[in-house]
Amino acid sequence: EKGNYRHFMAKEIHEQPEVVGHTLAHYIDMASMRLKPFDWPVDPATLRRLTIIACGTAYMAGLVGKYWIERFARLPVEVDVASEYRYREAPVDPDGLTLVISQSGETADTLASLKYVKERGSKTVGVVNVPDSSIARLTDAAAPTLAGPEIGVASTKAFTCQLAALAALAIALGRARGTVGDEEEGALLAELVATPGLIAEALKLERATEKLAQGIAHARDVLYLGRGTGYPLALEGALKLKELTYIHAEGYAAGELKHGPIALIDPDMPVVVLAPRDAVFEKTVSNMQEVAARGGRIILIGARHAAEEAAVEIERFLAMPDVGANFAPIVYAVPVQLLAYHTAVLMGKDADQPRNLAKSVTVE
Ligand code: F6R
Repeated sequence: EKGNYRHFMAKEIHEQPEVVGHTLAHYIDMASMRLKPFDWPVDPATLRRLTIIACGTAYMAGLVGKYWIERFARLPVEVDVASEYRYREAPVDPDGLTLVISQSGETADTLASLKYVKERGSKTVGVVNVPDSSIARLTDAAAPTLAGPEIGVASTKAFTCQLAALAALAIALGRARGTVGDEEEGALLAELVATPGLIAEALKLERATEKLAQGIAHARDVLYLGRGTGYPLALEGALKLKELTYIHAEGYAAGELKHGPIALIDPDMPVVVLAPRDAVFEKTVSNMQEVAARGGRIILIGARHAAEEAAVEIERFLAMPDVGANFAPIVYAVPVQLLAYHTAVLMGKDADQPRNLAKSVTVE
């Protein structure tokens, strides 16, 4: 039931502090602040690379996971959309490991890709929300998300729970490969377990986020920019906006702007910039300045004081709570989701049931 909410999507966005907390507690022993043991189907120390396969929002989660796994576990990661992976005759390492991500556990292309890698000898881990689903049953190891049933067609709480699980797995891979020591494990876990509280803080900014939505409800096109883990989050933001409002939106790596899309900047197109205070914050700000210099309309979702520091004209600014540098996307996902949701509501679109979409894509 929707309770006091107008839509399942709103309810599910608000459930995130709780369900992300539950998901983290599956992987982390909160009393000792240590990872619980994870039964890898292959010794992570022997791996040369990891393949991640998923569709849609789950694919965006996989892209964020790549940044974390490469950073913490020093393991090269390739991430592919399942509909491409299954048909491109990808070579499979018979001693390797493949991670598939799926909320429903029934997505046809993801399931077919899983079968493809299994037939070629790869071991598999499933980051899945529905425990008795086809994908969950076929994978060698389960890395569950505990989001609970997701009714809104647009994925929200499943996404942040996928990020939570992937963050824990990335640290676990780092431990198993000797690239994350005792002390770093403690520090990373402390930062990670702070995210549910920070999501709750971000949810308190809902009214302010609604104001940002007024800035894009009349746009024909919207550009989302981010760097580092903010880049896949920009892709996710653009996907959410497209599916809920039917406004054309694109996510771009902010550093790619000058290689083409900067030509799109004009006084009509809102540019949503995601700028948490992470390792690439200054770089993101300088890309934002490039947009401002060309008269672009900037909607900034960023660290406190980011707008003042940028010293350029910013149309709307959402000052986010302070988050650690590593796991910002788990928190910044909230305004990204709320922005798409409130834009849809402002435009009179059905946020729970966008046109042409199905919750579970069981045919290819
Ligand atoms: C977007 C969305 C879809 C799904 C995709 C994969 O909001 O919900 O892009 O993420 O269809 O679905 P699962 O995760 O069930 O495999």
